[in-house]
Amino acid sequence: MIIHKAKDYEDMSRKAANIISAQIIMKPKAVLGLATGATPTGVYRQLIERYQKGDVDFSQIATVNLDEYKGLSSNNKQSYHYFMNRYLFDHVNINKGNTYMPNGLEEDEAFECNRYNEIIHSIGGIDLQLLGIGENGHIGFNEPGEVFEKGTHCVALAEHTIKVNAKFFSSVKEVPTHAYSMGIKNIMSANKILLIAFGVSKAKALYDSLFGPIVPNAPASILQLHNDVTVVADEEALSLV
Ligand code: GLP
Repeated sequence: MIIHKAKDYEDMSRKAANIISAQIIMKPKAVLGLATGATPTGVYRQLIERYQKGDVDFSQIATVNLDEYKGLSSNNKQSYHYFMNRYLFDHVNINKGNTYMPNGLEEDEAFECNRYNEIIHSIGGIDLQLLGIGENGHIGFNEPGEVFEKGTHCVALAEHTIKVNAKFFSSVKEVPTHAYSMGIKNIMSANKILLIAFGVSKAKALYDSLFGPIVPNAPASILQLHNDVTVVADEEALSLV
């Protein structure tokens, strides 16, 4: 595991964007696993700048996102679908037909989970998976629990996650209670993992994930078993390391 300590949010974003850019340059047909949340928006901004400068070409890239809220349509402003268009896809030369997200409106959970697992498989698996981390140690929406969920699944969001994510909604009542998320096996099958974190609120989760016991109650701790993980985090997020 490689840990890069960044000075601040901008530095974290630039260092992470460097790694994603390198992946795209080395493999123009790469499959990128992408994440949402407050953490990666700076990384996406940096990638857009690199695209505008002519350094990175997304034309042959495919993407699969980690998760999507259940019940939100792709044009709902709080959906992760909308987020990806707003923060990345609308600003680069990606073929949107090659960008994949779980369908939040699909009621049939078994159907949607199978469909998404099949998509990940059919595009050849993930070359580089970008991950944020929840304050409770979640990755994607793999919440702390009794077991590691393997494939795409429908999750009842943890109370803590709903509270934390309420900042993106007009009230806590608006936050969906469920989401579709890639499972741990989907994530662990990626060739490379890039975990990003910033701020003191992530320090405990990051420390437990990188150095604590590997238990489903700390979902990101499973990353200790992956042989190509790069962590880019700021000094505050790494303050317990
Ligand atoms: C969200 C997402 C995760 C994300 C995490 C941290 O709920 N499902 O993919 O990494 O929580 O979010 P943030 O970057 O806003 O702290």
